[in-house]
Formats: sequence, C-alpha cells, structure tokens
Amino acid sequence: MRTSGNTVLITGGATGIGFALAEKFSKLGNEVVICGRREGRLGEAKAKLPGIEAIRCDISNGGDRKMLYDRISSSFPETNVLVNNAGIQRRIDFTKGTEDLLGNDDEIDINLKAQVYMSALFIPLLAKKESAAIINVSSGLGFVPMALFPVYSATKAALHSFSLSLRHQLRSTSVKVFEVVPPTVYDTELKGKPIEKADWAMSSNEVAEAALKGIESDSYEIGIGASNAWISASKGERDKIFGSINH
Ligand SMILES: NC(=O)c1ccc[n+]([C@@H]2O[C@H](COP(=O)([O-])OP(=O)(O)OC[C@H]3O[C@@H](n4cnc5c(N)ncnc54)[C@H](OP(=O)(O)O)[C@@H]3O)[C@@H](O)[C@H]2O)c1
Repeated sequence: MRTSGNTVLITGGATGIGFALAEKFSKLGNEVVICGRREGRLGEAKAKLPGIEAIRCDISNGGDRKMLYDRISSSFPETNVLVNNAGIQRRIDFTKGTEDLLGNDDEIDINLKAQVYMSALFIPLLAKKESAAIINVSSGLGFVPMALFPVYSATKAALHSFSLSLRHQLRSTSVKVFEVVPPTVYDTELKGKPIEKADWAMSSNEVAEAALKGIESDSYEIGIGASNAWISASKGERDKIFGSINH
C-alpha cells in the first residue's frame, strides 16, 4: 500500500508509537488526525507537528467513538487509513481477587472492545475508497503472554485473532488489514514513564519506521525486532520464551 497521499486517523497518536507514526506519516505527505483523552498531550503533539489535527476522544466510550466518526466523516471524509494504536497496560494480580482488576481503567474496553467497534464504525467509510487500510497495533505479548500483564496479553492475543478474521472478511474490499507487532519499546508512556533501554527493546521511532516499511510492501503481519521471531515460533519455542520472560 502506498504510504503517501493518504488521510490517516491514529488513535492514541499524541505519544509513543502513535506519535512516531503520526510524525512519519506526516513527513511522507499524508494528512494526519490523532485522538486521545488528554487535551494537554494532544496540544503538545500539535505544537510539534503543526500540520496535524487532534481530536479529544476516549475510544472506550461509545458516545465518544460516534462523535469521532461524525467529525471524521464530515471534516475528513477522505480518511482511508485507521490506525488502531491506543492502548493501556496494567499489572493485575489475580491472587487479590478483583482488587487490581476494578482499581483502574479497563484494558478489555480500551485494547480490544474499542478496536472492534472502531473497525465496525469506520469500515463502510474506508471501503468507499480505492485504497484503504486498518492497521492494528498488537504486541509480541499477544503471541507469548507475560503473566504480570495477564489481561493486556490476552487483549493483544484477541486483537491478533480479530485481525486475521477481519483480513479474511475484507479480502474482496479495498480495505487491507495490517497487524503491527512491536517488541518492548522503551520510550513510550505505556508503563507510566519511559523504561531503561535494553538489548531487546526498541525506540518508538524504529517501530514506526519498520511498520511503514511493512505497510509499503504489503506485509500484513509486521513482526518487529524480537516480536518477529515470536510470531512464527513453534509451540515448543513459545513455551521456552514463556519460561524465560516469566521466571
Ligand atoms: N511500549 C511497548 O513496549 C509496546 C509494545 C508492544 C505494543 N505496544 C502497543 O503500542 C500501542 C501504543 O502504546 P505506546 O507504547 O506508544 O504507549 P503510550 O505512549 O502510552 O501510548 C498510548 C496512547 O493511547 C492513548 N489512549 C489510551 N487510552 C485511550 C483511550 N481510552 N482513548 C483514546 N486514547 C487512549 C494514550 O493517550 P491518553 O492517555 O491521553 O488517552 C496514549 O497517547 C499500544 O496499543 C500498546 O499496547 C506497546
């Protein structure tokens, strides 16, 4: 798929991987709209990339999603690419019963339900375009779970499964379905603040660059860095990786 001349909506585009994608798409000559919950972060992103548009929206809220769709279809009707990037990650200890689960934002609502409903909302608009795409940002942890993040890992596994079905269902339309599978990324806000740079981790810029390369070459499942081996690992290999990341 071409990576210039598109109109691209990126959820969670004010920070981290979403912002790196916004910057790259913008530089390549695409119109870019980002959304997120925090006005402050959206304002900072717009100040860094003055050409982009930012819309405040909580994608886990059905009313907000409808508002976003209405704004996009009236003000940016040429939108032909939806990047389902927004996500959160929580440590949840199930030995405490529902305490952690209920104590914070719901990962199933934000990482899975929102991507499913955003796709359903936008597919009719996207399918009218000659060339269109849905780009789902999953995670290597969708292929090998990290037990510290049990619900997060499960939502990403489900997003992988959803991407496979969506790609199949949309195969006779103009909408291509990509899945970007990043490894650990050290410079984003997913864990609250940037983490230490380790050998197996990458920067959000490197991830965005690899994602765009994959999109340009119509590589539908884009495993990046360490995730590339994880997505094609055998059951035995995945069991070994599971052991090493959960010791
Ligand atoms: N960092 C990693 O190691 C890593 C690895 C693999 C995959 N990923 C995936 O990459 C994606 C981007 O994460 P990131 O690492 O770049 O972290 P990030 O910097 O925290 O970015 C996530 C973005 O999503 C937005 N967001 C969260 N909940 C939202 C909601 N309900 N409605 C709208 N926007 C929402 C956040 O903004 P607001 O809080 O202002 O809404 C934020 O801008 C996520 O799907 C994540 O799972 C990350």
